[in-house]
Amino acid sequence: MTPPSLPPALRAALDRKSLGLSRSDAAQRAAVISKTYRGGGGSGAIRSDTDALAYALARMPATYAAVTASLNALCEVRPDFAPASLLDIGAGPGTATWAAAQAFESLSEFSAFDSNPALRTLALDLAADTRLASLRYSHGEASVGLRDAPPSDFAIASYVVGEMNDDQRAALADLAWAKTRDMLLVVEPGTPAGTQRILDLRRRLIAQGAHVIAPCPHDNKCPLIGNTVSREESASHQQVTPDWCHFVQRLPRSRAHKHLKGAELPFEDEKFSYVVLSRTRAPQRFARVLSQPLVTKVAVAAKLCTADGLAIASIARRDKTAYARYRKLGWGDAIFDSEKTRAE
Ligand SMILES: C[S@@+](CC[C@H](N)C(=O)[O-])C[C@H]1O[C@@H](n2cnc3c(N)ncnc32)[C@H](O)[C@@H]1O
Repeated sequence: MTPPSLPPALRAALDRKSLGLSRSDAAQRAAVISKTYRGGGGSGAIRSDTDALAYALARMPATYAAVTASLNALCEVRPDFAPASLLDIGAGPGTATWAAAQAFESLSEFSAFDSNPALRTLALDLAADTRLASLRYSHGEASVGLRDAPPSDFAIASYVVGEMNDDQRAALADLAWAKTRDMLLVVEPGTPAGTQRILDLRRRLIAQGAHVIAPCPHDNKCPLIGNTVSREESASHQQVTPDWCHFVQRLPRSRAHKHLKGAELPFEDEKFSYVVLSRTRAPQRFARVLSQPLVTKVAVAAKLCTADGLAIASIARRDKTAYARYRKLGWGDAIFDSEKTRAE
């Protein structure tokens, strides 16, 4: 499993770029960029090198952590996956490229593109003198970038499709899939809207022959659609809340990161949605934990997505082996059928 914090070489490159940067200026810029994102303005507020750096300092730790969590899920289901080439779609400061390079020693060819020139310049600066120094990063719109990109074993679109309209998103899905020799990972914010974009893309590419590797243990319709959390499950929230497939990755916040975000807590919880699609089926059956399991002295209750739909696994403490395994499970973990048989 790759840890969620930025790798030392990336942290060092960001520190080097930040020499002489006014922290309060960076914090102000990051706040404007974040407000623009929340207002649906995408990366439009990132216009200069300093904006790009402020964005990277504020957001790269969280997007890196979300991509890394998705890659860990991929590797659990397909431990044999050893891509040689990567395409980072809408790469921004190169976050997903860094995360994939950490996860896969096998990667040696790195391609990327983005329509934002300031983020491209920053990505190339951060990559210089590192394992990513050979990164080929073009500047341009997704339609052109994807058309000109070389076919790759692995393609990632991290926090990108939310900046596109429905037609652009559909075109990106088709083109990205056409350029992918094996695996495509798409990550979005873990909001209902972000999850919906993931589900639309998932449905579209399954119709073109893709198979889901993670998080879903099946290629069927998402069983959470139209579902609500039951009254018992949501007792702590005092109400029945709509449910959607998303996950949470906790990441540490450095002092500088706290200052930049005007935050007090030494950690941050990034909510994200993702899908990993492959040209081949997952080799094993598994179930995915859809929320933090409830552990009591008498039992563990875990909400699972399984190949046969939603299920609540309730494991009594007297069932020692299974209880010990289930109490260690966290939100987003996979539990393989082979393990269940051993535990039963
Ligand atoms: C939120 S940033 C994410 C950047 C990076 N993938 C990451 O995870 O940190 C979204 C990126 O998508 C790029 N982008 C949005 N629409 C695009 C398009 N139509 N063509 C190319 N790049 C696009 C933006 O310029 C921006 O760099």
